[in-house]
Amino acid sequence: MKLLFSLLFFSLAFSSFLSSSVARGGERTSLCSGTNNVSSYVNYARRFLVEDDQSQGSVDKARGYLTNSDLEKAVKEFGERCSSISRIYSIGKSVNGFPLWVIEISDKPGAEEPEPAFKYIGNVHGDEPVGRELLIHLANWICDNYLKDPLARLIVENVHLHILPSMNPDGFSLRRRGNANNVDLNRDFPDQFFPLNGDINSRQPETRAIMNWLGEIHFTASASLHGGALVANYPWDGTGDKRRNYYACPDDDTFRFMASIYSRSHHNMSLSTEFPGGITNGASWYPIYGGMQDWNYIHAGCFELTLEISDNKWPNADELPVLWEYNKMSLLNLVASLVKTGVHGRIFSSDGGRPLPGSIMIKGINYTIKAGSLFADYHRLLNPAERYEVVASMPGYKSKTTWIVLGESAMSVDFILDPEVTAMENLRIICDCSYCGKSKLENLWGFHLEFYYIILITILVFLCVLLIWRMRLNFLNHRQSTKKSSQV
Ligand SMILES: *[C@@H]1O[C@H](CO)[C@@H](O)[C@H](O)[C@H]1NC(C)=O
Ligand SMILES: *[C@@H]1O[C@H](CO)[C@@H](O)[C@H](O)[C@H]1NC(C)=O
Ligand SMILES: *[C@@H]1O[C@H](CO)[C@@H](O)[C@H](O)[C@H]1NC(C)=O
Ligand SMILES: [Zn+2]
Repeated sequence: MKLLFSLLFFSLAFSSFLSSSVARGGERTSLCSGTNNVSSYVNYARRFLVEDDQSQGSVDKARGYLTNSDLEKAVKEFGERCSSISRIYSIGKSVNGFPLWVIEISDKPGAEEPEPAFKYIGNVHGDEPVGRELLIHLANWICDNYLKDPLARLIVENVHLHILPSMNPDGFSLRRRGNANNVDLNRDFPDQFFPLNGDINSRQPETRAIMNWLGEIHFTASASLHGGALVANYPWDGTGDKRRNYYACPDDDTFRFMASIYSRSHHNMSLSTEFPGGITNGASWYPIYGGMQDWNYIHAGCFELTLEISDNKWPNADELPVLWEYNKMSLLNLVASLVKTGVHGRIFSSDGGRPLPGSIMIKGINYTIKAGSLFADYHRLLNPAERYEVVASMPGYKSKTTWIVLGESAMSVDFILDPEVTAMENLRIICDCSYCGKSKLENLWGFHLEFYYIILITILVFLCVLLIWRMRLNFLNHRQSTKKSSQV
């Protein structure tokens, strides 16, 4: 009996020691051969213990959590209660037909504005339900406080915050990681290293919904909420050679800054002994492929973090209020960082001032930010306290570059670009001013063009002759002078 007890104790301790390393993974069988057997054993052991708990007559682990229909009701009630600052919409349906409800929070929900958009996604893994609870809390807290709390007001007035509490309602009702087809949705996105299938239609409905959503809304940044560890994870998640290594993306500094905003605002994430500062590069923790995070950064221009918000995937429901308190400032500060940090502005044309949906590059960072299509607003998150060379460009216009010293707070920099003047337009300008304009012989343009080419070539030939003649004269003079000097 004693032996059995200590065995049980050992496996529990061992599983909690390794639990963090299976949070995003779990089904890494073909990818991580070295630790595969150990982790699958641990997974098995943990599952066995949990099931054992249940069979001993203890309650369903989801007791006290919102069911899918509770969640739907909570979303709709929120939409009615907070209709002045929100809009409810669905981005598609799960395999079993459950709508993927989204709450948008903004003082002008649904309208396009020159403001950044942020998204939170919860419950990507069906068996990680803390995020969906906290996101419903977050929406309600903002609604209750935006008139009195400056941070809530800042978010409502300056950001479009989109909240998808559950990306995987089917997995939740099945109490398992994958969706109804048992596919891990955080391995179902097109991958930069191992493109399993490039076709959006062959993906899971939940994945497809996210991909289409990002085609419609230009998000500046986002985060998905997971459970099983306590850390803010940032790109890249995968490495080209499948090895476990720190693999930095072009915006490594920016991401470390963003992830630190979350961990430092958290109750104790930054005190982690496993992850310095409570943050980690995905690939240095363990590589995954087909994840949502890297796809967001590569294909949607969106800076996404993967947040592991509780060591325990199914804490007792009465711990949820405390978990909300632990994560509240992190959730708020991460969204607010879209307004409080980075470089923001708009791009205009110098002729007429119309907005130009161009792009923004930072010298030395191989990544391009696209400006909004309607207002040409851009929102470039960056690590503060550094000097940056910012380049704005737009096809048909001359790029403009400016140096900035980014402080702790956000900076606003608008760009006014001049149209590119081509050789042809140059000729036309000369022509318009000196000749054609006056005589209004625009239909004879072809003839005049030829005429100007002939004059241009004649002038060039004349200049060449002049140059050669002068060079010969110089040469002769030089020879004469050397002669003179040698005479002395
Ligand atoms: C896992 O262990 C089994 C034996 O228990 C072995 O046959 C198999 O090759 C191992 N798999 C890996 C990936 O190491
Ligand atoms: C954070 O606090 C919780 C609750 O007090 C505790 O269970 C957990 O071990 C702490 N984690 C760290 C990294 O300090
Ligand atoms: C910049 O990134 C692209 C992929 O986005 C890559 O193809 C290219 O080689 C990179 N350029 C440099 C100079 O690293
Ligand atoms: Zn997860």
